Amino acid sequence: MNSLIATRLRCPVCRATCEVSEDGKSLYCGGQRRHCFDFSRSGYLNLAGPHGGEGDLKASVRARSLFLESGYYERLADTVCEVLASCSVNTVLDAGCGEGYYTNRMALGRAALGVDLSSAGIDHAAKAAKREGLNAGYAVASLFKLPVADASFDAITNLFAPCAEAEFVRVLRPGGVLIVVAAGEHHLLGLKKAIYDTPYTNRGRADLPQELALEREIRLTYEITVEGRERIDALFSMTPYYWRTSEADRQKLAQLDRLTTEVDFNVYVYRKGLIE
Ligand SMILES: C[S@@+](CC[C@H](N)C(=O)[O-])C[C@H]1O[C@@H](n2cnc3c(N)ncnc32)[C@H](O)[C@@H]1O
Ligand SMILES: [Zn+2]
Repeated sequence: MNSLIATRLRCPVCRATCEVSEDGKSLYCGGQRRHCFDFSRSGYLNLAGPHGGEGDLKASVRARSLFLESGYYERLADTVCEVLASCSVNTVLDAGCGEGYYTNRMALGRAALGVDLSSAGIDHAAKAAKREGLNAGYAVASLFKLPVADASFDAITNLFAPCAEAEFVRVLRPGGVLIVVAAGEHHLLGLKKAIYDTPYTNRGRADLPQELALEREIRLTYEITVEGRERIDALFSMTPYYWRTSEADRQKLAQLDRLTTEVDFNVYVYRKGLIE
């Protein structure tokens, strides 16, 4: 793990600062008890504490990476990376990073730490980072209790995952940025039209930050054509409707080999004040 990231970690048990062992296999805390956390074979840390480690199942991680790695959301990844570059961000924490599709792209220009409760997602992310020699570290942990120091990151990103504003404020350095991405009103309307007789539009996210100052809002909309049943099903499984659609409606989608739909993203950029 890159030292820019390792020096920012805090022991999830006693909150002491941490260091990587000489052989690079473990992370030790500097507290009295010298808590030790071994890196997995793929290179991530489990810092979730005794009650952590749930989140997405392997099958949904596989589906999401199949869809994302086909490039349909690449323009969103580019937009987030452009915002990070325009804010001169050197260290970014991706809170709720899933299987690391966006995190590993962010790591091309800076040091990144991806945090998620899903060990299957984190394992996938860490493997890809290792394979590609990227400057990205990964930890299984809750984004509501991040295992990192106060004021330690230039930026936090939070894409389609729960938003923990108070914790993000703690972790951002003064003047740091928080980028929250949410589905826009018309996101995947074409998918919904293929399934439902009366598709409804999305409502905004209920958990957007309230205290941080909103500096910029970017709306990104474009059309994608998803080819093949496997990819269409993967996209469907990433949506909340997957769990509440009847078998008859599912069958409508199963007939399709190609699906054209709008995608609609809201990218919100918040900034922490320089003075607390
Ligand atoms: C819809 S996925 C988005 C993943 C990724 N950001 C992306 O856009 O591909 C939501 C992610 O939030 C994670 N998550 C949910 N609650 C969490 C929590 N309390 N702490 C950390 N991760 C959490 C899930 O495990 C899942 O990977
Ligand atoms: Zn400790």
